[in-house]
Amino acid sequence: MVTDNNLNLNKSEESAGKVSTPEWHVLGAGAVGCLWASKLALAGAAVTLITRDTSLATGKQNIQFRTTGDDAVIDVPVSLQTSQSLSRLNQAIGHLVLATKSYDAVTALASVKQLCSTDTQVICLANGLGFHQQLEDLLSPGRLTVGVTTDGAALDKALSVTHTGHGTTLLGYRQNHLPPIDSLPSIQPAVDLQWQTSNDIESAMWQKFLVNCAINPLTAIFNCDNGELCSNSQYRDTLRLLCVELAAFLPFSPLANKNFDVFQQAIKVAEATAANISSMRRDHQLGRRLELEHLNGYLLTLAKEHAIDCPLNRDLCSQLQAGN
Ligand code: PAF
Repeated sequence: MVTDNNLNLNKSEESAGKVSTPEWHVLGAGAVGCLWASKLALAGAAVTLITRDTSLATGKQNIQFRTTGDDAVIDVPVSLQTSQSLSRLNQAIGHLVLATKSYDAVTALASVKQLCSTDTQVICLANGLGFHQQLEDLLSPGRLTVGVTTDGAALDKALSVTHTGHGTTLLGYRQNHLPPIDSLPSIQPAVDLQWQTSNDIESAMWQKFLVNCAINPLTAIFNCDNGELCSNSQYRDTLRLLCVELAAFLPFSPLANKNFDVFQQAIKVAEATAANISSMRRDHQLGRRLELEHLNGYLLTLAKEHAIDCPLNRDLCSQLQAGN
């Protein structure tokens, strides 16, 4: 079940003080972190953005925020901190958006754990699977909300972000580690982004995971825009082959018996984001670490567990790990 909760902050409600905009910390100053930090600050929250980039001056900073198709650049004030400077300030964290790369998520949360209390609520927006249990182990029960987002964002340079696509963020608890879904409103961000609560977040996580496992490595290897996976027949054939391999994991996932068509869904997302440079392609172009470990690499772990043969996926992982 998905519950609609479009909470675009209403200015008159805001001035009447009806909407609570508590302090928010956003961990990770990449595209998604800067998008959420900007949207929360624009909604009136006091936002601390936590970066690991020690070359940036801590303290009051502006994020430059743009929306695709709109020339306006808005300066959004935030407090920029590193986990070290935040520890020195001894600033308690009540609400945290975890927006790091998947391979950094556990270390990043651990780096601010001493500032969290048993009440701290965390929304994890990192992609991929295989690390959420470790995050939950760092927090009190029921304090980790998973967010699965289709919002698009691009970091033009440090602290300069463009909202490239308006999507939706599903928020929910994993594995019926429920607090009842009704307790989510207490952490719902007063943010001008579309979001909904879901009591089947694991299905949403798997859907995004499989689509990422299909689109990301191929766009990185072929060095192509997402849309070319549909329009170029050779790329499309490879995508289809990869999706056949990915579909073999469905019976071991929350999507078993849900008629989820991996290829159709990958095509749909690739078409909807046709002009986009996927995150893995971008990282690959820039020689940065790839988010393989919790995407296609995680499939290799599952493949071993369930004796599934996935030669194309294995080959893509090897090529990408070798930096090809
Ligand atoms: O990782 C990404 O870049 C995106 O989630 C998507 C839509 C798969 C490709 O742009």
